[in-house]
Amino acid sequence: MTYPRKHLLAIEGLEPPHIADLLDLAESYALLNRSGKTQRDLLKGRTLINLFFEDSTRTRTSFELAGKRLGADVINMSVSTSSVNKGETLLDTASTLNAMHCDLLVVRHGQSGAPSLLSQKVDAAVINAGDGTHEHPTQALLDALTIRRHKGRLEGLIVAICGDIAHSRVARSNMHLLTTMGSRVRVVGPPTLIPAEAARLGVEVFHDMKAGLAGADVVMMLRLQRERMSGGMVPSAREFFRFYGLDAEKLAHAKPDSIVMHPGPMNRGVEIDSAIADHPTRSVIGEQVEMGVACRMAVLDVLARGLRRNV
Ligand code: NCD
Repeated sequence: MTYPRKHLLAIEGLEPPHIADLLDLAESYALLNRSGKTQRDLLKGRTLINLFFEDSTRTRTSFELAGKRLGADVINMSVSTSSVNKGETLLDTASTLNAMHCDLLVVRHGQSGAPSLLSQKVDAAVINAGDGTHEHPTQALLDALTIRRHKGRLEGLIVAICGDIAHSRVARSNMHLLTTMGSRVRVVGPPTLIPAEAARLGVEVFHDMKAGLAGADVVMMLRLQRERMSGGMVPSAREFFRFYGLDAEKLAHAKPDSIVMHPGPMNRGVEIDSAIADHPTRSVIGEQVEMGVACRMAVLDVLARGLRRNV
C-alpha cells in the first residue's frame, strides 16, 4: 500500500499508484461485504467520530457502517449549520475532540477547507466527507470503483459529468481522480454552472447534452445544488430538465452499453428521469452506495495503519 499521507483531505495531489492501491483494497472489502463477513479486529479499540455540519444520508451512514464492520467505536455528531460560529467554533470543537483521543475524524462542512484546518489542530487522522464546493474524495473513490467494476479500467474511458458542475465537490474530486487515471473527462452543463477552472483541470466543456454524451462510456448526473447558488443560475426546474435532464432520448447518444451514475440525493424529474434512474441494466446508482461502504472501509484501514497511538 503506497498511500503517502496521514489524512485524506482531497484527491488532488494523489498519484495513480495511490489511487489504484486504494481501489484494489476497496475491491477486497466489497467482496468481504458480499460474503457477509466482517473484520472487527482491525479497528478494535479505535474511536471514529463522524462530525457532520451539513446534512447527509449516504455518506454518514456508510462511514458508520464501515467503522463498525472494522470494529471501531463510532460516535455520530451532527451540528446544525446555524449554531456554527465559523472558525472559532470549529477550532473549539477540534480541541474538544482531541481531548477525547479520537483516532479517526470524518468531517463534512459547508466551508471549503474546513477539514484541512481541523487536520492541523487534532492528532486524529482526518477524512474529508465533503467540504463546500471543494472536494469529496471518498465519493470519487466509490465512483471510480463502480466504473472499474463495470468497464474493467478507467484509462481511455469517456466520462461525461453533467449538470451543476460549479457547485459540486463530487464533480471536482471526480475530475481530479479520473484525469489522473487517464479517463477522458467531459463536463456538460449551462455556462452558468461550469466553473472557470474546468479548462485548467484538463476536461472538455460542452453546453449541449447530445454533443457531450456522444460516445460516452459513463454518464454521471449531478444534483442542482441550490443551497450553494446565489441568485437564479437556472431558469426553472422544468426548463433545466428539458435541456439538461437525462432521459432516454439524450442517453441514446451515449454508447449502448454506457452506465448511468448519480451520487444522490436525486431530484427525479429535474436532473434525471425516473425511468433512467431505475433502469435495470444501465443505472448503477445502487451499486455506488454499496461501493461507498467498501471504499470507506479501505480508507479507514489505510489511515489507521499510520496512526501513532497504540491501542
Ligand atoms: C453529495 C454531496 O454531499 O456532495 N452527496 C453525497 O455525498 N452522496 C452530492 C449532493 O449533495 O448533491
